[in-house]
Amino acid sequence: MNFRCSSAPLADLGCDGLAIGLFSSTWEQQLAGLLGPRASEVQALLEQRQFKGKPREQVTLTLPGEGAKLLLVAGLGEPEHFDTQGLRQAAARLAQASRGWYLNSLGLALPLEAFAPDQALGALVQGGQLALFQDLRFRSEVEPSGDPKEICLQGIAESLQEQLPQQQAICAGVELARELVAAPPNVVNSLSLEATARSLADEFGCELTVLDEAACRERNMGAYLAVAQGASIPPRFLHLVIRPNGVVRRRLVLIGKGLTFDSGGYNLKVGSSQIELMKFDMGGCGAVLGAARTLAQLKPEGLEIHIISATTENMISGEAIHPGAIVTASNGKTIEINNTDAEGRLTLADALVYACGLEPDAIVDLATLTGACVVALGSEIAGYWSPDDTLAAQLNAAAQRAGEGLWRMPLQASYKEGLKSGIADMKNTGPRPGGSITAALFLQEFVNAEIPWAHMDIAGTVWSEKGRAQDPAGATGYGVRTLVEWCLAIAAEQKEGLSQ
Ligand code: BES
Ligand code: MN
Ligand code: ZN
Repeated sequence: MNFRCSSAPLADLGCDGLAIGLFSSTWEQQLAGLLGPRASEVQALLEQRQFKGKPREQVTLTLPGEGAKLLLVAGLGEPEHFDTQGLRQAAARLAQASRGWYLNSLGLALPLEAFAPDQALGALVQGGQLALFQDLRFRSEVEPSGDPKEICLQGIAESLQEQLPQQQAICAGVELARELVAAPPNVVNSLSLEATARSLADEFGCELTVLDEAACRERNMGAYLAVAQGASIPPRFLHLVIRPNGVVRRRLVLIGKGLTFDSGGYNLKVGSSQIELMKFDMGGCGAVLGAARTLAQLKPEGLEIHIISATTENMISGEAIHPGAIVTASNGKTIEINNTDAEGRLTLADALVYACGLEPDAIVDLATLTGACVVALGSEIAGYWSPDDTLAAQLNAAAQRAGEGLWRMPLQASYKEGLKSGIADMKNTGPRPGGSITAALFLQEFVNAEIPWAHMDIAGTVWSEKGRAQDPAGATGYGVRTLVEWCLAIAAEQKEGLSQ
C-alpha cells in the first residue's frame, strides 16, 4: 500500500473516497469541520441511519455531486477513551471498509489532537496496511479485491513522510511473520526457514550461522536434538546477526521457538488438541525473523541484535524420543522427558544456553509454549515472565506502544517443586495447574542469572480464529511490533545516555 501525508483540508486532497472517524459527543461539529459545505447533507444521511458515533459503529455512504464519491464513517465513542489502540483500530476498520470500491485514493481523517505525530503515523499506517493484508499464496484463482491504490493520511504533516519507510519496514516484518506462520507444515520446515534466514541475510547484509545436526551434537545440544530425532527433515539451528553501522553499545538476543509442526511426539496430540493447527508452533521463530526483517532494514544505532531459533518438527517414528528418556542439555543438566509434547522448552533450553554464551545485555524468547497460557489469557494477550523488573517494564511499555496485549506473570519459585525428577536433575513437565509458570521456570534453569532475560508465551496470540479489527483471521504476526519497539527504545535510550 502507498501512503501519503498531507496537512491540507480533506476536501483538497483530491481523493475519490473519504474515511472519517467521529466522536459520539461532537460528531456534528466534526463533520462540519471536515466536510464544509457538504456537511449538512451528510449529517442528514447519517441521522437517517441513526448514526450516534458509538464505538465500532460504521456507515458507508455514496455521495452525489462533485468531489469524493464515497464516504466511510466510523464511530469512535467518547474522546476521553480514544487511545492509540482506538486510533489503530479505527484506521484498520476504515481501510477494510474501503475494500471492494477500487478507489484511487482514500483520504483518511481521524482526530489526531491527542497523539504525538509519530505515534499517530504508526497507528494509521500499521492499522491500515495490516488490516488489508491478504495471503493468497495457496489459492489457484485470485479475484481482485478492489483495495484503494493509495491511502492519504490527512492531518499528518508532510515532513513526517520521511518516517514512512520505517513504518513500512515494521509492516513488512509483521507480514513476513504472518506468512511464515500461516504456511502449512509441508511448506515451512527447518530447511525452508534456513532459506528464509539466508535471504534476509543476503538482502540486508547480515551474518548467518547455521548449525546442522552434527554441529549441534558437537555443542552437546542433547535437549534440542532429542526433539529433532523423530523427524525426517534435518534440524537447523539458526543464528542471524544484525550489526549497526557504527559502534556496538548493546547486544540483544531474540530467540523464537521454531517447531514447524508439533504432533506431540509419542505423547501424541489427540482429541481436541487441534493437531492440525500445530503449523503455528514456529510462531516464535516467525516473530523473531519478522523482527529481523524490520531491524535489519532499520539497523538501530548502537545495537547488535542476535536472532536465534532451534528449528525442527516434533514427530513420531522409530527414531523418535521415548517418553521417559533422559537427555543432557548443553549446560550439562539432565532432563527426564516425562512428556514428549513439552518439546518447545527442550529446544529453547539449548538455544538459551547458546544465547548466554554470546554474553548479551538481554535475552527475550518468544514461544507458543503452553496451552495453559491460552487458558489463562486467551488469544489477545500473551504472558511474559522475567526476574528482571527493568526488562519487564521495558517490554510492557514496548507492547503498549505496539498495540499488542502483554501481561506479566509470576516466576513462582516454589512451583519448581513440580519439575523434580526421581532420577534426573529435572523433568520437562510439571503438573497441569500453573503449567505456563512451570514451563517458564524450566527455561530459567538454562539462563545465566546475571543476564536479564524474559520469556513470552505467545501460544494464544499467534493465531486468531475469527480475526480482529486490526487483523484478518489466521496468523497475526504477534510479537514483531513489540520486539521492534523494544529494540528501538533501547537504541534511543543508550543514545540519550551518551548525550547526557
Ligand atoms: N505447542 C504446544 C503448546 C500449544 C498448545 C500452543 C495449544 C498453542 C495451542 C506445546 O508444545 C505443548 O504441547 N505444550 C503442552 C505442554 C504439556 C505437555 C505440559 C500443553 O500445553 O499441553
Ligand atoms: Mn507440544
Ligand atoms: Zn509445541
